Amino acid sequence: MQLATPEAAFVSHQGSEKSAISRSGKALCGRLRAPGDKSVSHRALILAALAQGESRIRGLLESGDVLATARATAALGAGVHRDAEGWRIVGTGGRFTRPGAPLDLGNSGTGVRLLMGAVAGTGATADFVGDSSLSSRPMARVLDPLAAMGAECTSTGGRLPVRLTGAPLKAIDWTPQMASAQVKSAILLAALGAQGETIVREPAPTRDHTERMLPLFGGRVETDGLTVRLKGPQSLTGTELTVPGDPSSAAFAVIAALIVPGSRVTVTGLIDNPARSGLYKVLERMGAKLTRSQGETHSGENTIDLTAETGPLDAIDLEAEIAPSMIDEYPVLAVAAAFARGETRLRGLAELRAKESDRLAGTAALLTANGINARIEGDDLIVTGCGPDGVRGGGHVRTHGDHRLAMSGLVLGLAARQPVSIDDAGMIATSYPGFIRDMQSLGADMETA
Ligand code: S3P
Repeated sequence: MQLATPEAAFVSHQGSEKSAISRSGKALCGRLRAPGDKSVSHRALILAALAQGESRIRGLLESGDVLATARATAALGAGVHRDAEGWRIVGTGGRFTRPGAPLDLGNSGTGVRLLMGAVAGTGATADFVGDSSLSSRPMARVLDPLAAMGAECTSTGGRLPVRLTGAPLKAIDWTPQMASAQVKSAILLAALGAQGETIVREPAPTRDHTERMLPLFGGRVETDGLTVRLKGPQSLTGTELTVPGDPSSAAFAVIAALIVPGSRVTVTGLIDNPARSGLYKVLERMGAKLTRSQGETHSGENTIDLTAETGPLDAIDLEAEIAPSMIDEYPVLAVAAAFARGETRLRGLAELRAKESDRLAGTAALLTANGINARIEGDDLIVTGCGPDGVRGGGHVRTHGDHRLAMSGLVLGLAARQPVSIDDAGMIATSYPGFIRDMQSLGADMETA
């Protein structure tokens, strides 16, 4: 794999515990291009690696998580090259080779789970490892269906390290216990190499980027409500695509604009997909001033430019059913709720406990460290809003190596009365390497120590 600058950037972030601080100051103004979507970036690399022939990917998110997937696809036999125009992947035609060393997916749940599905479907053998956070996350949700298809899986109590050997796979009819796009996608990727029709019956709709991208590589997949069907085996053909902007990353600038007085910020090119846009609907229900204009379509996804202006926010009692469409946005939504008027209840957040950290506990602690009353009842998070000028701040946020807690803490500091510091900004690079620079470009007083 030929990687120059992005790889160097990734290496320099690993293990670097740099604290960071943010303070209230002037209004945030300007336009920002949303960074490439993380979910779409992983899928683009993996499908290109499975395809026959060459693919071109523009706008790939060059974050730690995605670069880990890029390295893994190279270790599995794909040609992975970065040049001035973007990424060029020479696919394996569905024939992964056995890597010489364990595939290290770092912090990336999406990378490891989707690649397990892809490896199983090609019949290859690979070992999977990750950092301490990834090593504590549940993998049985993916290994169980892959084993049911005929893959040989050995794990450490359903966790990494995992050894996986694909065999001639058979199709399955699977109903995952949790709403998870990672589980659905891992099964669909394995199904590309399986004999017969695989069916995934989702308990609730989850992001459908795999289903939208497969046809661009010549794949066929059918969705009917909550049921997704894929008839295997299928071979894919390399293609050209552009990665659209990430609504989960855009959320930080948007919420900062809503809570920092006098702000007006436009984030351009972000995915507008019902399976990802829960946060923006919720913010509007809370009274947020958001305006949209249509953008181009990329990788099967519509995009929009979204403008946010400061205004009063009202508390919300949020139903659990919406969680999959905004699962990564709860920490920063909780920050918005802290600046709203009234008590917010965010329901049904059990899955947050299985993210890069226990995000439910981490979000509550982030708020309480800054003088906000927050508590967990069962799987619900309850936040007592302090109103637009009522948040004290002044806390030191423990991020537990979780990029989204880190960015949420820094956004809170932009509108609180006292500065907010975080213990480790290094992990922000797993999903949004340019975050602090982008926020500074809008006028934010935010820096690493
Ligand atoms: C992702 C799905 C979500 C999300 C993650 C990315 C994906 O996880 O939290 O950041 O790309 O499929 P689950 O589907 O497991 O909830």
